[in-house]
Amino acid sequence: MKAIIHTRYGPPAVARLTEIAIPVPGDDELLIKVYATTVNRTDCGFRSAEYFISRFWSGLIRPKYKTLGCEFAGEVEAMGKNVSKFKKGDQVFGYNDKKFGGHAEFLTVSENDTVALIPPRLSFTEAAPITEGAHYALGNIRAANVKQGDVVLVYGATGAIGSAAVQLLKHFGAKIIAVCNTQNVSLVKSLGADIVIDYETRDFTDTNQKFHFIFDAVGKSSFKQCKPLLNKGGIYISTELGKHGANVFHALFTPLFSDKKVLFPIPTFKKEDIEFLKVLVEQGEYAPLIDRTYKLEEIVEAYKYVETGKKIGNVVITVREES
Ligand SMILES: NC(=O)c1ccc[n+]([C@@H]2O[C@H](COP(=O)([O-])OP(=O)(O)OC[C@H]3O[C@@H](n4cnc5c(N)ncnc54)[C@H](OP(=O)(O)O)[C@@H]3O)[C@@H](O)[C@H]2O)c1
Repeated sequence: MKAIIHTRYGPPAVARLTEIAIPVPGDDELLIKVYATTVNRTDCGFRSAEYFISRFWSGLIRPKYKTLGCEFAGEVEAMGKNVSKFKKGDQVFGYNDKKFGGHAEFLTVSENDTVALIPPRLSFTEAAPITEGAHYALGNIRAANVKQGDVVLVYGATGAIGSAAVQLLKHFGAKIIAVCNTQNVSLVKSLGADIVIDYETRDFTDTNQKFHFIFDAVGKSSFKQCKPLLNKGGIYISTELGKHGANVFHALFTPLFSDKKVLFPIPTFKKEDIEFLKVLVEQGEYAPLIDRTYKLEEIVEAYKYVETGKKIGNVVITVREES
């Protein structure tokens, strides 16, 4: 089968198209014929090993999992003898950042992992990007314990995480103030933001509004900058470590010494979470934004584009054409 592999860490060009054997499903695994996958910031992080710490999971010297692609959408082609939750022909989507494998014509995944049936009438292209940004957004929103009526600022509302966060916060009944560039103000409004601040014309910190939760979904702000905007008991979360790892440091000490806390939750994603996202998609409350699509053969270009930090939502990779 065709697959993208990388045998060393490095820039987009380390990812190359090659032929490898179709994987054989274990007893509780599905063999999925992949139609669509994505290139996202998680794939970029594991391919480049930009943060050395990621190598403790992905292989200290060389990548353990040579085919990346944590998101996938496809059809169940075969299965192990113990599989009971899915059948051949089922259309499924899912997320796997433990062994990846979506950048290939087939992948195997345990039926007990985060894999679910594609909501009716959704294409593989639409289903593939449901999980990556949304599961980070969901984990952070839950960590901040957002309740109905809470006032929340989402900084970087056009990214995969930020655009999912706006839609999920709407579902949870928050009042959302979102920050993005001029060009995307109406897009972010359409996602459910109550107020949109255009960062090209206004400094988002120049406000009398106080927030229960400030979520920097692109990791460009600092706690110092945002602290005056938080209510007593308010929470700041960033998707990046911050300058010199400041956000991790603050997450250790602010809960002990400050009435305004920084949290740095470890991302988790369970079977019930993917089912939750699936229901939101079915109810029309969440739809991942799709910026561009590339063919599997064009994956280096896709990586380069994602690494500009300019994508709007998600970049989908077409592995095979849908009929
Ligand atoms: N290491 C990992 O494994 C990992 C995994 C997932 C996410 N992350 C981190 O999480 C962050 C978000 O990921 P993502 O995939 O959601 O991001 P993304 O989709 O790459 O975000 C891109 C969007 O953010 C906007 N943006 C960039 N700089 C901005 C700024 N200063 N103010 C407001 N908007 C800005 C861009 O719009 P403009 O045109 O306005 O700039 C663009 O629409 C990234 O920093 C990423 O590195 C890391």
